[in-house]
Amino acid sequence: MTGPVINRSVSPAPIVVGLGDRSYPIVIGEAILGQTGLWARKLCPPGKCAVVTNPIVGALYADIVMQSLLSEGFEPVRVDVPDGEEHKNLASLSLIYDALVDAALERSSPLLALGGGVVGDLAGFAAATYLRGIPYLQLPTTLLAQVDSSVGGKTGIDHPRGKNLIGAFYQPRAVLIDVSTLRTLPRRQLLAGFAEVAKYGAILDAELFALLEQKLAQFLALEAEVVTQVIRRCCELKAAVVERDEREAGERAVLNFGHTIGHALESITSYQRFLHGEAVAIGMVAEARVSAALGLCPLEVVTRLRSLLERAGLPVNLPDDVDRAQLAAAIELDKKVQGGRVKFVALEALGKTRFVFLRNEEIVELADRGATGNV
Ligand code: NAD
Ligand code: GLY
Repeated sequence: MTGPVINRSVSPAPIVVGLGDRSYPIVIGEAILGQTGLWARKLCPPGKCAVVTNPIVGALYADIVMQSLLSEGFEPVRVDVPDGEEHKNLASLSLIYDALVDAALERSSPLLALGGGVVGDLAGFAAATYLRGIPYLQLPTTLLAQVDSSVGGKTGIDHPRGKNLIGAFYQPRAVLIDVSTLRTLPRRQLLAGFAEVAKYGAILDAELFALLEQKLAQFLALEAEVVTQVIRRCCELKAAVVERDEREAGERAVLNFGHTIGHALESITSYQRFLHGEAVAIGMVAEARVSAALGLCPLEVVTRLRSLLERAGLPVNLPDDVDRAQLAAAIELDKKVQGGRVKFVALEALGKTRFVFLRNEEIVELADRGATGNV
């Protein structure tokens, strides 16, 4: 059987995010964490440096990273922030600043962010602001962080009244993706990251989407070649979007597909019921239904998206007990609203999108209308 044609060779060459003198490599493969020192040495003079992680990831991977840095002449200090989104806040940031001051890190001293998106966002923001900016490297260890948060330079922390309200665009010097770290990731976290993987196929690359349909079992079983190939493709797609629109003046907002409803759902369930990727899976299917209800895409697009996510074990339906008025109100509070209308990412086909401007109530109503007929 012939499958979709996609680059099957796993090239060791790094992807480059091309941003002029702020360009940086994304290195993807197995046992990459053991090369941390080599990459840090290429980018910064050896000396003091800090590895920011959390107790869970640190127990698994900090030793490899610290050893690699030591062997290249660095003097690393390890800084642990508490685990969990509830700690992506000022207290953790302050803890990092204290450790950097204690260790007397200098302008050229690198900071290494070892962990998922929480550690990456926090450590990236600390790097953006300590001494008005020091170099940092992302060492992402969740699937979500490997395909999304470590690339593109969005850094920041949450405010008690909203997620990611404080932050900066600040690009890393390198992203080192060790796919073998996914073997210790809890299954639920892996699946949540898969929602973001599927998103790239849905919005930007129909071939990737078809590959995921075909190789889902191998991907979820973490077969190295498939995982590396897919993560690589996601990073290429994200790098290209970031190169064209680094500060989200326009096109980068395409990455918000599934997030208009997904963020609202997370918010009204107090971030307790769904992981981010789970909410995005529900949001993507709902937003595809909105697109179909508007006549912008064929129903087949909704069916294929829903089926892929369902096969992966992700939730795909807006729960009946979610209050629709509350959902609509939460959409309106989102950062993407302009002049009372939401900049909504609609699907035209798999791999093809367009922006439409919709009222919040309209989005919720169309999502439910699209769901009748069981699509
Ligand atoms: P996370 O960082 O909380 O990690 C999830 C859990 O997995 C944590 O308990 C963590 O300790 C654990 N973990 C991480 N790697 C592991 C490993 N290899 N083995 C075992 N356990 C491991 O969650 P996440 O999903 O990676 O990131 C979510 C965060 O990312 C949110 O704060 C979100 O706002 C942010 N985000 C940022 C961007 C961006 O562009 N900067 C994009 C998307 C999401
Ligand atoms: N995660 C969306 C972005 O980086 O723009």
